[in-house]
Amino acid sequence: MEFLAKGGHQRTGSLLLGLLIISSVLLLSAAPVSAQTDLTGVWAMDFPTGDGNVIKTYLDLKQSGEQVTGAVWYDYGKRTIKEGSFTDGKLHLTFILWDDNPPPLGIADGTLQGEMLRIRVHLSDDVVGTGIASRTTPEALALPARLPIPDLHEVPDNGLARTPPMGWNSWNKFAQRIDDISVRGMADAMVSSGMRDAGYTYINIDDTWEGPRDAQGNITGNLKFPNMKGLVDYVHSKGLKIGIYSGPGPTTCGGYTGSYGHEEQDAKTYAAWGFDYLKYDWCSAGRIYKDSEMRAVYQKMGDALQATGRPAVFSLCQYGNDDVWKWGAKVGGNLWRTTGDISDHWKRMDEIGFKQFEITSYWQVGHWNDPDMLEIGNGGMSAVEYRTHMSLWAMLAAPLLAGNDLRTMSDETKSILLNTEVIAIDQDPLAKPVKKISEQDKLVVAARPLKDKTWAVGLFNRGDTAAKMSVKWTDLGLHGKLQVRDLWAHKDLGKVADQFAADVPSHGVILILLKH
Ligand code: GLA
Repeated sequence: MEFLAKGGHQRTGSLLLGLLIISSVLLLSAAPVSAQTDLTGVWAMDFPTGDGNVIKTYLDLKQSGEQVTGAVWYDYGKRTIKEGSFTDGKLHLTFILWDDNPPPLGIADGTLQGEMLRIRVHLSDDVVGTGIASRTTPEALALPARLPIPDLHEVPDNGLARTPPMGWNSWNKFAQRIDDISVRGMADAMVSSGMRDAGYTYINIDDTWEGPRDAQGNITGNLKFPNMKGLVDYVHSKGLKIGIYSGPGPTTCGGYTGSYGHEEQDAKTYAAWGFDYLKYDWCSAGRIYKDSEMRAVYQKMGDALQATGRPAVFSLCQYGNDDVWKWGAKVGGNLWRTTGDISDHWKRMDEIGFKQFEITSYWQVGHWNDPDMLEIGNGGMSAVEYRTHMSLWAMLAAPLLAGNDLRTMSDETKSILLNTEVIAIDQDPLAKPVKKISEQDKLVVAARPLKDKTWAVGLFNRGDTAAKMSVKWTDLGLHGKLQVRDLWAHKDLGKVADQFAADVPSHGVILILLKH
């Protein structure tokens, strides 16, 4: 299915790399060089990320005359050089960052000085950095040896996530700019804002917490996370739970240490620290395993988590590939991403959200479709659009993982994240699928039966102009007069016969609850 296409994480990785590169600025004068030098071969560059992590990057170059071809490699991913030249000691490359039409390009400019290439990389206007490359052998590009995958079996249900998980995750707002002190601040804000009491439970650290492995192979936190156990205890002391992030590949999407070959050891470490939740992100595992092997790879961590004896929500992040909704529960998954990454724009949220209706029949108690985390409060959409985002995610029984800075949110953002009537739809214990009742042009009516024989109905206007929308009771198999409550106006609209109609703003929603 089209919406399974990944790409968001590749893009994220690329941008992240660029941001990280900035920290390693080197400006050195170039000595005169001979244009005759042949750059052919593999060149290695280390980009320290400033927190104890280093992203290994390679240029695999082939020079013919002044023309240079080949690829730029990082995170075991190959970015093909589109155009390359080496003239008068100056290297100039453009390379394809990810597949698109037209593909976005990175630029690397280098100056040869002795045996070193001083490289300036430019990924976008605000993402530039420099580093030093020196020659290495082609073996440096080799993938780690492929580890065998287990035979398939069913991982027992861990009994967690009886309703879609709610909480906060660091990625959407902070990406790599997250640290211990900010996570503690989020826990404080979760309590003081009332979000904990409204059901938001998990404080989830996403990528870039990872440090190197110690001499015994145990994963450690990096300089931003010097005391994982202390942080976990702090979050627990607030009456909250806490989540961590890794992936089955050698590196994560951000170029940090992954769990490849250390699955059981890492699961034990997370349990010893006291973590309650793991998001497990595919990324570089895709260089080693085929999509059809994902199930076994995820099962390995599902088993490892359960073997620790500490209950942990298992969140699969592989962008919906290989129809994960058909097997995610069997590998111990409590939720599984169904798409590539969300971004804080109407177009992307709309595209991801409204494609979910095709697979709503696959969610079940304890095992949820995850169309990615919330962007509410991050500033890229209007309040009308964020209300649509929240309403749609609630109708879809999606995990509600806030992705904004909880310490500084506006009253408007709070009013959206803390709409308890909308949260109640998301968390409804009946867990019946939402259905599209009608779709005309960009006008979508969706309905979901809830416990106590009530119905939630969303009138969604995806279009660019306001529209009159309606729903007939008979479309839901209902008759007569029904009590209507507007869940954003927080208003009872009285008993209404046969149908409900309303003006819905562009990109907006009217969300109502119907009762006999
Ligand atoms: C991928 C995931 C994101 C986030 C980043 C971290 O892109 O889909 O949600 O975890 O990796 O690098």
